[in-house]
Amino acid sequence: MNVRELMQVAPVIPVLVIDDIAAAKPLAEALVKGGLRVLEITLRTPVALDAIKAMTEIDGAIVGVGTALDGDDLKRAQDHGAEFAVSPGFTAELGKAAQDLSMPLLPGVATSADIMRARDGGCTEVKFFPAAQSGGPTMLKALGGPFTETKFCPTGGINATSAKDYLALSNVLCVGGSWVAPRSMVEAGDWDGITKLASECLTLK
Ligand code: 3PG
Repeated sequence: MNVRELMQVAPVIPVLVIDDIAAAKPLAEALVKGGLRVLEITLRTPVALDAIKAMTEIDGAIVGVGTALDGDDLKRAQDHGAEFAVSPGFTAELGKAAQDLSMPLLPGVATSADIMRARDGGCTEVKFFPAAQSGGPTMLKALGGPFTETKFCPTGGINATSAKDYLALSNVLCVGGSWVAPRSMVEAGDWDGITKLASECLTLK
């Protein structure tokens, strides 16, 4: 799948921070059962790469790496089974590395200049990050004026209520967020609760 196709699988991409490797598989199962198949595992914990590998074994899961900062991150994640990458920002080096690895990349942008640099690097699908802090839906609507071809996945500070406002915009294909798998529910092993939160996302768009 290319980035646009990945963004169209479901209205929400869960952004996951995995502390305990034992949680990886049941968490992926819970989210997929709820209808959210595209999962972003952030490279923020020591077990993140092993979590990616474990989650790729879950039927239906499409697992990617988040918080990818450079080509080494992409390579390590791809070696562990990651099918796509999400980064907080865009650099030409990162864009080139993704191309060399044939790894779909969803890079972060927050300004017009960011969008133009990403576009120069071949990326017209981007993550608007941090969405709430960078101006929210009204900012995205304004960016839709000059950047007619660019499609966004806003991420950062989004919840079930604000997700609707973003998803109502024609330049938003999906949103990302951690609210569908809160750390407290993961720690408690509340997989049914997470499945319920995930399934509620399907009605947002
Ligand atoms: C992140 O990279 O942390 C994501 O933007 C998730 O943000 P959230 O926790 O505010 O949903």
